[in-house]
Amino acid sequence: GKVAVLMGGTSAEREVSLMSGTGVLAALKSQGVDAHAFDPAERALDELKREGFDRVFIALHGRHGEDGTVQGALELLGIPYTGSGVMASAVAMDKTMTKRVWKAEALSTPDWVWLSPAEQTRERVREIPDTLGLPLIVKPPREGSTIGISKVQGYSEMAEAVQLATRYDPDLLCEQFIEGDEVTCPVIGEGASAQALPVVKIVAPEGNYDYQNKYFTDDTRYLCPSTLPPDEEREIQRLVVAAYRALGCRGWGRADLMIRAADRKPFLLEMNTSPGMTGHSLVPMSARAAGISYERLCLHLLSQATL
Ligand code: DAL
Ligand code: MG
Repeated sequence: GKVAVLMGGTSAEREVSLMSGTGVLAALKSQGVDAHAFDPAERALDELKREGFDRVFIALHGRHGEDGTVQGALELLGIPYTGSGVMASAVAMDKTMTKRVWKAEALSTPDWVWLSPAEQTRERVREIPDTLGLPLIVKPPREGSTIGISKVQGYSEMAEAVQLATRYDPDLLCEQFIEGDEVTCPVIGEGASAQALPVVKIVAPEGNYDYQNKYFTDDTRYLCPSTLPPDEEREIQRLVVAAYRALGCRGWGRADLMIRAADRKPFLLEMNTSPGMTGHSLVPMSARAAGISYERLCLHLLSQATL
């Protein structure tokens, strides 16, 4: 039947989604799937039903795409879709909610402070470095692709970091900075059959894996195989599968982590439930290391589409 590849959308990651969706669309078509691009920023989702689409590949990132809203609309329309359902998508979109779940499950994640808009007073913001230490990370809790994130080195940098983050999300998430290796690890499947793919180690210029270094420069190096000791790689994969299952994810996901240099302890940062599929993205790279081509990965994810 007809497959819609949802791409674009209205989030700050629109541009990234168009790159992901273009890749997925080409891959599916090359495998003989009757796939078509569909941009929910330009067309109402109920056109999917009227036009006879019977499955959807979600290549949207960020709010109104990765956060359970589109998933809910597709549930109502009765059209099976790739990836996590409404609840896991909504929780994973919010890094604070995600950390609360992980903490409750005793899964390691950096200490944090969360402030609602009313709590973002000068005094409360000033206290954050005392609580978390410096440097620290300031983030919009419901954003992706490193958008709106700052690494704060001193008290004087807090105000600007808060101002940047709150351009994207009224709520504020501050996290202890973990000095060490930056890694990412995809998971595919569901429940007891969820399995981790190979870990990718990210070596960004000056340790700054920001939006530019994610998608537009060739200065970031990716190691896959990760070069981590095998027992460390296995520990990360176990942690990531537990993190994925704790959130109730299905289909696929990709957890981002830091490994603390001092003691090699891994810390979960977030779970992406609609990971990037761009030419620079890391799920395709990890899958390839496991012998799964981009095309096969897309076909596999589509075959798991469900309601
Ligand atoms: N949020 C981007 C798309 C990613 O995690 O790959
Ligand atoms: Mg993310």
